[in-house]
Amino acid sequence: MTTTLQETVAYYNNLDPETEKRVDALLAQMTLVEKIGQLVQLNPFAPFDPDDYEAKKREAEEAGAPFEYEPRLRDDMEDLLRGGRIGSFLNVMTPKVINHCQRIAVEESRLGIPLLVGADVIHGYRTIFPIPLAEASTWNPDLLERASRVAAEEASAAGVDWIFAPMVDVSRDPRWGRIAEGAGEDPFLGMAMARARVRGFQTTGLTSGRNVAACPKHYVGYGAAEGGRDYNTVDFSERTLRDVYLPPFKAAFESGAGAVMSSFNELGGLPVTANPSILRTILRDEWQWPGVVLSDYDAVRELIPHGVAANLREAARLSILAGLDIEMVSTAYHDHLADLVTAGEVPEALVDEAVRRVLRLKFRLGLFERPYTDESLHDAVILQPAFRELALETARESMVLLQNEDNILPLSPDVRLTVIGPLADNRADMLGCWSLHNHPEDVETVLEGLSAYLPGDTWSYQPGCPIRDDRTDGSGIETDIPAAVAATREADVVLLVLGESADMSGESHSRTTLGLPGRQQELVDAIAETGKPMVCVLMSGRPLVIPRLAAQVKGLLVAWHAGIRAGRAVADLLFGAANPSGRLTASWPRSEGQIPVYYAHKSTGRPAAESGTRQFAEAFKSVYMDEPNSPLFPFGYGLSYTTFTYANLQIAESMLGPDDTLRVSVTITNSGDRAGAEVVQLYVRDLVACVTRPVRELKGFQKIWLQPGEQRTVSFEVPVRDLGFSGLDMQYTVEPGDFKLWVGPNAVDGLEGAFRVCEA
Ligand code: NOJ
Repeated sequence: MTTTLQETVAYYNNLDPETEKRVDALLAQMTLVEKIGQLVQLNPFAPFDPDDYEAKKREAEEAGAPFEYEPRLRDDMEDLLRGGRIGSFLNVMTPKVINHCQRIAVEESRLGIPLLVGADVIHGYRTIFPIPLAEASTWNPDLLERASRVAAEEASAAGVDWIFAPMVDVSRDPRWGRIAEGAGEDPFLGMAMARARVRGFQTTGLTSGRNVAACPKHYVGYGAAEGGRDYNTVDFSERTLRDVYLPPFKAAFESGAGAVMSSFNELGGLPVTANPSILRTILRDEWQWPGVVLSDYDAVRELIPHGVAANLREAARLSILAGLDIEMVSTAYHDHLADLVTAGEVPEALVDEAVRRVLRLKFRLGLFERPYTDESLHDAVILQPAFRELALETARESMVLLQNEDNILPLSPDVRLTVIGPLADNRADMLGCWSLHNHPEDVETVLEGLSAYLPGDTWSYQPGCPIRDDRTDGSGIETDIPAAVAATREADVVLLVLGESADMSGESHSRTTLGLPGRQQELVDAIAETGKPMVCVLMSGRPLVIPRLAAQVKGLLVAWHAGIRAGRAVADLLFGAANPSGRLTASWPRSEGQIPVYYAHKSTGRPAAESGTRQFAEAFKSVYMDEPNSPLFPFGYGLSYTTFTYANLQIAESMLGPDDTLRVSVTITNSGDRAGAEVVQLYVRDLVACVTRPVRELKGFQKIWLQPGEQRTVSFEVPVRDLGFSGLDMQYTVEPGDFKLWVGPNAVDGLEGAFRVCEA
């Protein structure tokens, strides 16, 4: 059973009087130390001990038992739990350990307050789905909701009650490795995906009988790190904050998210962890949001290297005063908060407020009634056939066909194929950058996927070279480009399976050059010499910079890191059992020097000509001398094996008041000969306003499936109040005036119309 949006909103973010009474009653009994305990989040394990690991492995081998390493608890953990000095865990997903610790918290601590177990379940727990950037490329929020529900099912059976996702950071910089974890460059799309994922995580009726809270992150601005370097400085205007970076968080809260994780970065000179205007003014005063604010990992201590706190005590004071509730991993609150309160530097009422929020979440999750996890469930719940099927559906819909010259795809089953590239026979990298509980043996490789379609004697495989250079790659693949070239001799088509390894994106994995890593481009150059037609399946955790590759291959399918069903999904698409329907959610630059390149840019006072710019062609315009302004592949772009035509754009009312709704419709026809899906996108431009506005902004999208020849009228309804922005006084405003709109297949093409917003 799926809960409605209203129910989840009510569940976590409404102050229901019964819960408030329970919170007050409990709070009244708590000592200061116990209160502070609720604000402490730690990993309960001792640092990894390789000797212990080896010894346990040997023991299991001698006993012929399967080996699953269980790390040791920290020596002080049980005492901390008994003393009520710890309120939550992170990244423990072992039901036995969780129950053991929970039993101490519930049965042996004075007040018996249950622990809250949080974990990173970013694109699946055991059923690993495509990375979130890929998931967003489905443009199918319903699918994401279902995928998130599967993640919640599995994680909840492992004892997790709090999922540190969705990551809703808008990012316009593919150098930043964490672009992989979000929905891409656009706030409107980000809002849709945030809502879907929160609904999915927070649905009720999970097999475990327990509930899960979502934790959108990283609040806020993290995706705008200077130079795309992780954890780096962020400095943008309040208007950009409000119009671009905040909306997906607001959408997540409106969908009922009961918590948020603050970000590592500074914003305009003040780290978010210690930033009261971000943590208090916006969240509490403006939005009246009652949820929990959790720091990021060690971020309170990091106020010291940021240079705003001289020591841990000061870091604790700044954070609690700013409005940070729970400290993750560092121990500033644990070590110093009691003293700060006693010394009168922090009002106890502030601590009470934070504790109240944590207790509220615990009550709402039902932890007091159901603190334990049924350990027998885990194995039955994970990796169910329906979950694997959904992972396949998501993987297929996430992949984006960028080129298909001469309709080289789909391949015919009697094609003679040579498969080349380090990622064709690879499991580990399909799992993407953020899956803690993955098992590579769950993954289907591309070669395995292909074998479902091709008889054994019609194809061959050569890796050609490792993903990175031979020394650091660790895959055991040795570069042998001549062998790869020789293998193509009999081929009708060469299928290249290339790209990044999973650990080239994600946290702390930013890159400055975004071409094919290692010697892969050299490999392609050598194959290109043979003149054989090439199709490339490109795997990555980000938009890559591939103008050379794109010019060499006829077919180009972006497959990202697509999870456990990656191989089957690739094969289904290559052979036409499924029709590509993914669309980019972040622009693919022509060169690193263009970054940031995104569709919703401003016009500038010297805009380039609409047709794009060329070297030296447009002097004294906002252009580069050596590169067009446009990306290689724009936001929203992606091909299908069929074609769609757009006609009959209708705007119901072209003069609208501020309380009206913009109603737009268009007729889409599947004009090809295969069934397929189109993502119909609605963009607007506010032509003149008191502040500059983007040249296009996404305001609606619908993914529709059409049979060959089928026609459908697609209608959009956009409330005029959603066409606003932060005005001169930084208040949200919708200004009267003229707008353009486009309905089309991406951020560049489409039918054009116009409407006007009039005074009230
Ligand atoms: C740091 C990451 O920024 C955050 O996304 C994650 O949830 C925490 N570590 C906990 O693992």
